[in-house]
Amino acid sequence: MGVQSLAVACGTLALCLALTTATNPGFVVRITTATNPGFVVRITQAGLDYAHEQGIAILEKKLAQLKLSDISGDSRVLHVGKVHYELSRLRLRDFHLPYTRITPISNVGLQVSISNAFAELDGDWRVKFLFVSRDHGSFNLKVENVYIKIFLSLGSDTTGKPTISTSDCSVRISKVRVLFSGRLGWLYNLFHSVIESRLRKILESKVCDNVAKSVQNELQTYIQTLPVTARINAKIGLDYALVAPPRATAQSLDLYLKGEFYSLAHRSTVPFSPPPLALPPDHDRMVYFGASSYFFNTACIAYHKAGALVFEITEATIPKDVGFKLDTSVFSAFIPQLEEMYPDMPMKFRLSAPTAPFLTIGPGGISFQPVVDAQAYAILPNSSLAPLFLLSLTGNVSAVINVRSGRIVGSLDVGRIRLSLKDSAVGTFQVQLLQTVMNNLISSTLIPHLNAHLDEGFPLPLLDRIQLSNTLVKFYQNFLMLGADVHFQPQA
Ligand SMILES: *[C@@H]1O[C@H](CO)[C@@H](O)[C@H](O)[C@H]1NC(C)=O
Ligand SMILES: *[C@@H]1O[C@H](CO)[C@@H](O)[C@H](O)[C@H]1NC(C)=O
Repeated sequence: MGVQSLAVACGTLALCLALTTATNPGFVVRITTATNPGFVVRITQAGLDYAHEQGIAILEKKLAQLKLSDISGDSRVLHVGKVHYELSRLRLRDFHLPYTRITPISNVGLQVSISNAFAELDGDWRVKFLFVSRDHGSFNLKVENVYIKIFLSLGSDTTGKPTISTSDCSVRISKVRVLFSGRLGWLYNLFHSVIESRLRKILESKVCDNVAKSVQNELQTYIQTLPVTARINAKIGLDYALVAPPRATAQSLDLYLKGEFYSLAHRSTVPFSPPPLALPPDHDRMVYFGASSYFFNTACIAYHKAGALVFEITEATIPKDVGFKLDTSVFSAFIPQLEEMYPDMPMKFRLSAPTAPFLTIGPGGISFQPVVDAQAYAILPNSSLAPLFLLSLTGNVSAVINVRSGRIVGSLDVGRIRLSLKDSAVGTFQVQLLQTVMNNLISSTLIPHLNAHLDEGFPLPLLDRIQLSNTLVKFYQNFLMLGADVHFQPQA
């Protein structure tokens, strides 16, 4: 249970940490990535502070469980001679970390400074002196003014997951006060000169050992819950692998991710590169996500490649309240030949995108002009399809983007649809006459269908048990920025 709760606390800390550069303090390594990220996660100081708070509460509990082994030794005591001492049943009662701070250090990582920490320790003492005399009792030790400094460095492993480790740890204990039961005045001096300093050394190394182990076992495990490959559905995956080690600046920790959708069946090279993505210096939310137009355009390619950008309109897909009959008798009002060739037959449209849509993001929002082929068929009495005509549809589509339950969700709105006739098996006709009909068909079937999918959304790259609140969406040239505060949900 302790391990789990530590993992949780560390996890929050890790959230912040996940974004630092994995370099040793002292070395300055410029991170240059061959390509721009398709997706950026930024943890601001507010986010680091939140994670830190959670992490420290866990570390505090963990340190209070420090196991200290028995201590024994020999010492010379003035007027007494050689004394053999033993300390046993050492038990830490608590460990308080009242003043702590986390600071991102540019190109290094994160520094955690803990000051004025204090702890209390109980144990039994036993001494043997003058060859035969013995005495024993109990003691209580107050360790005060403990300073702990921890450097955490972040990196990425071969799978693109973040890594974290303690690159440096130091502990300084400047005050130890001991209270012991017993009648021997020289015992106090023995404690003071020998035992205190031994205990101090042991504690100093134990604390750093414990920190390093917790970072390794709990924090590292937690930050590796970053979903670097998210499965969207049976056909589409989303690659959130780090393209560079997390990078610390003086204000934040930035994570550069690939941010690329791909077809699970056949992933291929994306025919364009991500544009530069420089998040503005906003800092009032704990975390910001930058999603490049690359991110969305690779989604379009992946869905297109997976054959998912196909949609059929039949009478059954049209909502009843639209009151539209999809048959040749209705369409013969615009295409008189239909009446004669295919009288009173149901129809269907097969919509498909000949190429993947390509969208642009600017300060005004997301927009694109997809081109859709709409093949019309008459459904013959024996159920086979007779091709009627092929339209090319285009229109201005705008998207509204939001964040819900840790996912990017959206909805589309289409303006007036422009039609052109690409092919016809029923002779020529005035295609503009179909304008209103097609607009109604598209906005009552295809758009709700797409919006239902977009409403399920795409997962943001979040560590386990992280919830977002207070979200905002802003648009910039070539990317959109999502801001949010974070809530870490400890395990029940
Ligand atoms: C369906 O009917 C049409 C015309 O009546 C005919 O040309 C076609 O071969 C038929 N298809 C099948 C599968 O029977
Ligand atoms: C789309 O918008 C642009 C500019 O806003 C406009 O010039 C164009 O005609 C629009 N296209 C359609 C099909 O409405």
